[in-house]
Amino acid sequence: MLITTDAGRIERARQMGLLQPVSSAVLAKAVPAHLRDPDNNWFGFSKRARVILFNKEKLTAATAPQNYEDLADPKWKGKILIRSSGHIYNQSLVGSLIAAIGVEKTEAWAKGMAANLARPSRGGDTDQIKGVAAGEAELCVSNTYYYVNLMRSKKPEDREIAAKVGIVFPNQSNRGTHVNISGGAVAKYAPNKEAALKFLEYLVSPPAQKYFAEGNSEFPVVAGVPLSAELASLGAFKEDQLNARVYAQNNAEALKIMDRAGWK
Ligand SMILES: [Fe+2]
Repeated sequence: MLITTDAGRIERARQMGLLQPVSSAVLAKAVPAHLRDPDNNWFGFSKRARVILFNKEKLTAATAPQNYEDLADPKWKGKILIRSSGHIYNQSLVGSLIAAIGVEKTEAWAKGMAANLARPSRGGDTDQIKGVAAGEAELCVSNTYYYVNLMRSKKPEDREIAAKVGIVFPNQSNRGTHVNISGGAVAKYAPNKEAALKFLEYLVSPPAQKYFAEGNSEFPVVAGVPLSAELASLGAFKEDQLNARVYAQNNAEALKIMDRAGWK
């Protein structure tokens, strides 16, 4: 089996011929269509949204940018933190922008956003959140679980960081927020294919979905599964329904665009 995060990675495995399609009514019913490969080579079992987080002393949910597109507005010059373009989370996000607005507009957007960075990209999403909480920038882009993990941390200093930061789910008045997956697949030469498929089907059962929400602070893909108080506190949001394979396949193009835009 292969279990990994980000549709970009699991789609790469499919392209390399490492996976095999499976036919499962259970998976087809449980996993929303946009979170699985249309040819049934891989399936999402939990999901994360890539959101805008802001410093509550400087911005509110109303004054913060409302769309990914807004991050290129010169009004945010020197105020944004985001990890490097080399990271697959950004390649998938930009892959979704390519699908939504096309290559040309995405490149102009990437140039604008790269020009707005408070400092050259470094570190992971948690480092960007810490920078925002410390006032080094007004806002950042991060996956939801990093924020929720800080809220749920045993360390009081982590919880203080989370308390200084608010959240905007981008693009709520249009296509919805970019969501990505933690996914699973059956390997091409799996010696125990039936058992592997049974395990994938187990992963959409309510107890397993609850493990995801509690273990990795991601959203379960199956609706109605109980969430931790911290995860539930983020509230409901509209998801971009673009199929994960589409933005995954746009990853290479996305990286070229970000390179040309000067986003390191
Ligand atoms: Fe991560």
